[in-house]
Parts: sequence; C-alpha cells; structure tokens
Amino acid sequence: MKETLKGKVALVTGASSGIGEATARALASRGAAVALAARSEERLGFLVREISAAGGPALAVKTDVADEDSARGAVERTVGEFGALDILVNNAGLGLSGRVAELRPEDLRYVFDVNLLGPLNCVQAALPHMERGGRIINVSSVVGKRAIPKVGGYCATKFALNALSEALRVEVADRGITVTSVYPGTTQTAFRENSRRTKDEKRGWRPGGVTPEKVAEKISAAAESGGRDVYVTLPDRIFVAGATLAPGLFDRVLRRWARD
Ligand SMILES: NC(=O)c1ccc[n+]([C@@H]2O[C@H](COP(=O)([O-])OP(=O)(O)OC[C@H]3O[C@@H](n4cnc5c(N)ncnc54)[C@H](OP(=O)(O)O)[C@@H]3O)[C@@H](O)[C@H]2O)c1
Repeated sequence: MKETLKGKVALVTGASSGIGEATARALASRGAAVALAARSEERLGFLVREISAAGGPALAVKTDVADEDSARGAVERTVGEFGALDILVNNAGLGLSGRVAELRPEDLRYVFDVNLLGPLNCVQAALPHMERGGRIINVSSVVGKRAIPKVGGYCATKFALNALSEALRVEVADRGITVTSVYPGTTQTAFRENSRRTKDEKRGWRPGGVTPEKVAEKISAAAESGGRDVYVTLPDRIFVAGATLAPGLFDRVLRRWARD
C-alpha cells in the first residue's frame, strides 16, 4: 500500500466497529496517524494494538460524540498527541426503526443527538485546528437522499447531516478544507443489531450489502483527494438518481415495503 497519507493525522469517530474500524485500518495503512474515537474503550484498545503492531501511530480516545465536551476532548487529545488534525471522519452513528406514526420523540431526539449533533460537535471542535487546510468526511447514507418506510426517523438525521455538509462545504472552501458526504447503502456491519427499535419490527428484506472495507476504501480515497458526494456502488447511485427523477414511481414501489 502506498503511504499517500504519510504525515497526516486523522480522527475517526465510531472506530470501534464496522465502517469506522475498517476506515481506521485503511487510513493507517496509507500512513496516517489515527485517533480512534468511540465509547467502547476496550474495542478501541484492541485496534490500537493491531495498528501499532503494524508500525502505525494510533491512539484510542473514549468519546461520546453526542456530548460536546467529550467531542472537544477527543479533538484536543488528537492534536495534543500528534500535533495536528488534517482529516476528520464523522462516522459514528446509529439507526432507528419504526413507522413515523409510532416513533417515540425521545428515541428520535437521541438519534439526532448522535447522528447530527455528534458530527456538529466534532466539526466545531476540529475547525480551529485545521489551519493548514483539511478534509471533513461525513458518513451519510443512500436513505439520506431518498427516505424509505419504517426508518423515516433515521433518514431524517441523515438528510439533516447532508444539509450541514452542504453549507459547511461552501463556508470553509476558502480555507482549503474540503467536505465530503459519503452515501453507503447496506453494509455488512452490526448496524442493524445496534439500531434502536420502536416496536419489535419485522426484519424485512435488505440487499446483501457490501463489506465495510469497501466503504472504507471510498472514505480513504476522499481523505486523499477530497470530493463532494461519494457513492460506494453503482446500484446505490442508480437508486438515488432514479428516486430523484421519478419520485412518484419510487413511492409506488416502496408502498409494498410499507405494508409488511
Ligand atoms: N451498515 C449500514 O448498512 C450503513 C449504511 C449506510 C450508512 N451507515 C452509517 O455508517 C456509520 C457507521 O455505521 P456501521 O454500519 O459501521 O455501524 P456499527 O457497526 O454499529 O458502528 C457504529 C459505530 O458508532 C459508534 N457510536 C455509536 N454511538 C456513539 C456515540 N454516542 N459516540 C461515539 N461513538 C458512537 C459505535 O461505537 P460505540 O458503541 O463503542 O460508541 C460504533 O463504533 C453510521 O453513521 C451509519 O449511519 C451504515
């Protein structure tokens, strides 16, 4: 692997599992020093040992991104340990299933706290340290571009994240900071098991999905060269383009899904 990120410092949130864990490995293999943030200190510790054993600088920072002080602490420890912050990957997040009519406001508030306020907290803490430019990468979802039934609350958090990303991209462009939105489709992680549920929703059909390593490759490419909107697969791109061009048709197709 070419060390294209040698000398760069990255902070990855949600690095204890799934896409974040794979992203931390991928960035480290490209030569970046990586700070790993999540609540599960033990899992972060395993990954730090693995990356360090392969010769990469790595640091575990126990973090709850929904807590402003904790997010600021993660950024400050990263800068304190590695002297800079060049790449922020806002990946930490969780799902919420349930029909809109049945969603509990406290669940929706919590998922907004993690999926929207979390990235906001990290961005606000990171920006003062990105004097030499940088890359902010926000992990959204294809369902942040076209909401689907029975996960409307989760979709709303990702639509809101996209809005922040779009405004921020323009606001920081003159500082040499790029803002990338990544839109994965189904990815083979513990995401579904970790999602909040409104009722005991049936586990409906889902596409087989891609490996977290495939998403991590796309995130790493964005860490190297920026980019605006990043899709992981062609079907994801087609889903979003089709839903934008023919929203009524997609409504009709999705009604079947809403029935079960
Ligand atoms: N898997 C999919 O199908 C899929 C598709 C599209 C988008 N996404 C998005 O991809 C991102 C990563 O999800 P994943 O699939 O890798 O799921 P995952 O395996 O459940 O990982 C979620 C990560 O977020 C962390 N996290 C959750 N709440 C946190 C908090 N309050 N503070 C800090 N870290 C927190 C978890 O760590 P701790 O529990 O240790 O804190 C874990 O490391 C999410 O933003 C998700 O919305 C996933």
